[in-house]
Amino acid sequence: MYIFETTLDVDTVPFRLCDTLQALYNMLNRALVCLVALVASVNVFNFGAVAPYGVQAQYLLGLGIGDITGPVVETNMMGYANLPQTDTGLHMRQRSRAWIIADASNPSNRVVFINADIAMGDTGIRRSIVSQLTSQFPGVYTNENIALVSTHQHSGVGGYLEDLLPQLTALGYVKETADAIVAGTVLAVQRAHANLAPGKLSLGNTTIVDGNINRSPSAYLANPASERAKYQYDQDKDMSLLRFDDPNGNARGFLSFFAVHGTSLYENNTLVSGDNKGMAAYLYEAMAEPNAMPGNNTFVAGFTQSNVGDTSPNTEGAFCESPGQPWDGQACEFEHSTCGNATQDCHGRGPGFRISDFESNTIIAQRQVNGAKTIMGQSLAAVSGPVKAVHAYMNMSFRSFTLPNGTTVQTCPPAMGFSFAGGTTDGPGAFDFIQGDNSSNSQNPFWEIVKGAVTPFPNQQQIDCQFPKPILLNTGYAHFPYEWSPSTVDVQILRVGNLVMLIMPGELTTMAGRRMRDAIRTKLISQGIIGNDAYVVIAGPANTYAHYVTTREEYAVQRYEGASTIFGQNTLDAYIDKYGSLVSFLSPNASGTPQSDPAPADQTGKAISLRTGVVLDAAPIGKKFGDVLIDVSTTSPYHAGDTVLAQFVAANPRNNLRLEGTFLTVDRLVNGNWQAFRSDSHPSTKFHWLRTNTVLGFSTVNITWTIESGTPAGPYRISYFGDSKPLIGSISPFTGQSSNFTIS
Ligand SMILES: *[C@@H]1O[C@H](CO)[C@@H](O)[C@H](O)[C@H]1NC(C)=O
Ligand SMILES: *[C@@H]1O[C@H](CO)[C@@H](O)[C@H](O)[C@H]1NC(C)=O
Ligand SMILES: *[C@@H]1O[C@H](CO)[C@@H](O)[C@H](O)[C@H]1NC(C)=O
Ligand SMILES: *[C@@H]1O[C@H](CO)[C@@H](O)[C@H](O)[C@H]1NC(C)=O
Ligand SMILES: *[C@@H]1O[C@H](CO)[C@@H](O)[C@H](O)[C@H]1NC(C)=O
Ligand SMILES: *[C@@H]1O[C@H](CO)[C@@H](O)[C@H](O)[C@H]1NC(C)=O
Ligand SMILES: *[C@@H]1O[C@H](CO)[C@@H](O)[C@H](O)[C@H]1NC(C)=O
Ligand SMILES: *[C@@H]1O[C@H](CO)[C@@H](O)[C@H](O)[C@H]1NC(C)=O
Ligand SMILES: *[C@@H]1O[C@H](CO)[C@@H](O)[C@H](O)[C@H]1NC(C)=O
Ligand SMILES: *[C@@H]1O[C@H](CO)[C@@H](O)[C@H](O)[C@H]1NC(C)=O
Repeated sequence: MYIFETTLDVDTVPFRLCDTLQALYNMLNRALVCLVALVASVNVFNFGAVAPYGVQAQYLLGLGIGDITGPVVETNMMGYANLPQTDTGLHMRQRSRAWIIADASNPSNRVVFINADIAMGDTGIRRSIVSQLTSQFPGVYTNENIALVSTHQHSGVGGYLEDLLPQLTALGYVKETADAIVAGTVLAVQRAHANLAPGKLSLGNTTIVDGNINRSPSAYLANPASERAKYQYDQDKDMSLLRFDDPNGNARGFLSFFAVHGTSLYENNTLVSGDNKGMAAYLYEAMAEPNAMPGNNTFVAGFTQSNVGDTSPNTEGAFCESPGQPWDGQACEFEHSTCGNATQDCHGRGPGFRISDFESNTIIAQRQVNGAKTIMGQSLAAVSGPVKAVHAYMNMSFRSFTLPNGTTVQTCPPAMGFSFAGGTTDGPGAFDFIQGDNSSNSQNPFWEIVKGAVTPFPNQQQIDCQFPKPILLNTGYAHFPYEWSPSTVDVQILRVGNLVMLIMPGELTTMAGRRMRDAIRTKLISQGIIGNDAYVVIAGPANTYAHYVTTREEYAVQRYEGASTIFGQNTLDAYIDKYGSLVSFLSPNASGTPQSDPAPADQTGKAISLRTGVVLDAAPIGKKFGDVLIDVSTTSPYHAGDTVLAQFVAANPRNNLRLEGTFLTVDRLVNGNWQAFRSDSHPSTKFHWLRTNTVLGFSTVNITWTIESGTPAGPYRISYFGDSKPLIGSISPFTGQSSNFTIS
């Protein structure tokens, strides 16, 4: 087994062979440096343009939503993939939202677009979703027409991905997380299917100037000046939106596309949440149906991720947090995002950074909500025409193809470059699996098991193929105990009229996305499949997670995004080539299926999971589950803006995920009856759990509610819903209640 060592400069290092695991550790420990890391009373049902009457409703439309929140405690979170980021409670539930579009005259032509509030799509999750839907609805929902798109948020529950590399910080595979995502997503599609009804679609766009910035502008500048001159910004500032109406022109929901990383909440947040896309969906849905509990709404707002690769929601820029150093408070160095030659102190700042990352999250969400509202208020272009879906598997290892200029090139088996370990200004390197430990013994027991299999030293063919990337992790050659990175990805396109959605397995940078959209649009028009109104959007990371996709020129710079472009410098052109070959299948007359590689093997059977189950819960002597330990104030009334806190004798929330339910309610007394007024999914409530004695099984939960302005005066109370596990016997539910309190 070969390993390699580097000097301290993670961005430009040459490497040399050496021969011990100790050296591997020292190298990784040095190299993997970590960055810290309206609700207006507007009735949106009558909001905006009403589609012209008399137009035949060409489509059948269905919209649904489901709860996909996995274990909210004792589980690593996904996105930053940072071992210490283990969840301790809940801010907002994660949801899958589904939109079904069928051609009314030929309903077997249909597509299902799923927007899941997770960090990335995954082959294993998608396989389970497709398998359940195809057996429940034979011939209706298929491997071809189901698209599993992620919001790319970084504050959700982790452990669900099938490949080994992203499992490292989660201590392997977490079946409860995967099961919750699959069950809630299938439920969302079932609900959408159940409310299929005739309707109309329309399409528009707007510009959101303050919703994102480029976090790797020095790589963007490597693109040809003539190409950059075609664009005003180094980011796509446009939101595109597909509006769903009933036949009378009343909106039932929408799907919007806007590129901004789900990294508003930092990697030191440990409350499960939906980051800015999940928050935007909540804010819009609460505006549409102010009285519905979150997740119990019928209006479905879709905030979908797009060519997200080099975007950041930290719109104030990246600054040095280096107390005592002369560069403290200054902007980070431009080329390498460093402070005093190190990356650790360089932090991106969101628009609410003076208050908190939660504040930044709400602001970035609201800017997307405002963009969607603007489009919903416009007179939009009606969408008409065929509904088509095409899907293929593509083995990206050594894929040979011809560039438009006639040169034959190939892609490479996956590998991560050194800058992957350096992370980004939004947080530490994803999968930063040896976080903060410089001893020879890792703190990560999962790593202890798999390190013997660590990524074989790259052979000359792989070195040449991945050039100029210096290889840190040669994951394409690591097959033990199972695949570390995907080699086979899902390639998929959905078409509805003139709208073509490229469902992509990676995070394309801004310019990569522009080249991709332009190439496919040109092909659609030149082949006569769609006219000059062809409108192409990118959605992803979807289906499989195949990391990043930069342009060839950005790849040469090898910032984080280039280092994470796992199939080498021809990755983008290979996707353009393959997606381009699928365009002919979007013709209404097209039949047959495209050339496809074999589906990737199911690895979940081999998955290692080191996460232990809940052993027991107990209440201290003289107490019982649900007893109040810290009560609300009963003496003086609360006011809007105050935070109410109650602490209870608790049990492990992993005992029952309470999907489609809640761990808490804020109850309001109305006409002598207590009514649930807030749930655990309202952003104003937070649920913090703490194991206080592991041996005896004691725990507490803090429930807080920050009272929104406009909250009606009167009596309220906080309820806690838990489930306890005895050492022997079955799990049983219990309830706790605070004293009554008054809002005046
Ligand atoms: C916005 O829509 C208009 C009209 O369809 C179109 O010309 C323009 O290209 C769109 N903008 C983007 C960024 O897609
Ligand atoms: C989380 O990290 C940010 C960025 O470094 C920092 O400003 C903030 O104080 C941290 N929050 C907590 C709770 O440590
Ligand atoms: C969900 O909405 C339905 C219909 O509006 C209502 O009957 C039901 O009580 C709601 N459920 C919850 C948990 O709010
Ligand atoms: C950073 O590196 C440069 C070039 O090696 C050196 O001149 C400079 O002194 C270093 N700065 C710090 C703060 O170490
Ligand atoms: C992908 O293609 C490479 C090169 O042809 C081959 O070695 C590899 O086995 C293929 N992988 C799969 C999963 O089919
Ligand atoms: C075609 O383009 C590639 C990538 O830019 C380049 O490496 C190659 O030299 C070009 N071939 C010709 C014949 O110009
Ligand atoms: C680990 O880091 C500490 C503090 O920087 C240092 O004193 C110690 O020598 C390091 N240990 C190893 C094994 O490198
Ligand atoms: C599809 O078939 C119809 C009737 O056979 C024909 O008129 C039309 O041109 C075809 N469309 C395309 C895009 O080939
Ligand atoms: C719960 O609230 C109490 C009182 O404010 C505080 O001391 C404690 O740290 C909180 N616990 C958690 C887990 O947030
Ligand atoms: C809370 O309010 C309810 C309804 O008015 C009342 O029945 C109950 O006794 C009150 N609880 C306490 C502890 O005062």
